[in-house]
Amino acid sequence: MAKLSPSILSADFANLQRDVELVLDAGADMIHIDVMDGHFVPNISIGVPVVKSLRKVTDAFFDVHLMISQPEKYLDAFIKAGADLVNIHLEAEGAKGAMLRHIRAAGRKAALTIKPATAPEEVFPYLDMCDMVLVMSVEPGFGGQSFMEGSIPKLRKLRREIDRRGLSCLLEIDGGINLQNAPSVIKAGCDILVAGSSVYAADDPAAAVRAFKAL
Ligand code: DX5
Ligand code: ZN
Repeated sequence: MAKLSPSILSADFANLQRDVELVLDAGADMIHIDVMDGHFVPNISIGVPVVKSLRKVTDAFFDVHLMISQPEKYLDAFIKAGADLVNIHLEAEGAKGAMLRHIRAAGRKAALTIKPATAPEEVFPYLDMCDMVLVMSVEPGFGGQSFMEGSIPKLRKLRREIDRRGLSCLLEIDGGINLQNAPSVIKAGCDILVAGSSVYAADDPAAAVRAFKAL
């Protein structure tokens, strides 16, 4: 069964605790937290203080997606704030291997993310340093965009390489995921689905979580 990581980017920021508890009570496996710096992506979202505040109100696993140009500068701050998994973009600045090792040395899960234009093979040299790889199925920066079909063959290639090498690295997808396209990404080998608007913009977000979990 695929895991579900609802993205709070589409939640009500004035009621974050309520919206986080709502999806967890409905069966969400973790919480996806989108951090944007207005430089790596053309949008600004939330940062360290929000992770720290949410950490005080839940024990849930925090899947922190850093869409920032210089992740190295902020790794320790997010780790200290309570990130369980720190996700850095392959296209960001800095030495990715050293950052992944640093995150693991701090006792947290380490992940690499690729944008739609980045080939999955570019992640292969880092696979044994990753607990998870995230394939973006929209251009990062905004919720509510349409799923890009080109991400399906990318998932398949990564799945094949992870299995061929006998690694335990998980695969996650993020962007435009809904109940209609979720079965095809799961079939392509995806382990974790990020869903923002299809959960929080649904008439009944708890029912949406349960529907994803029933797939
Ligand atoms: C986009 C973010 C996503 C976003 C997904 O840059 O990384 O996590 O919240 O939103 P939906 O599911 O609406 O595409
Ligand atoms: Zn994200």
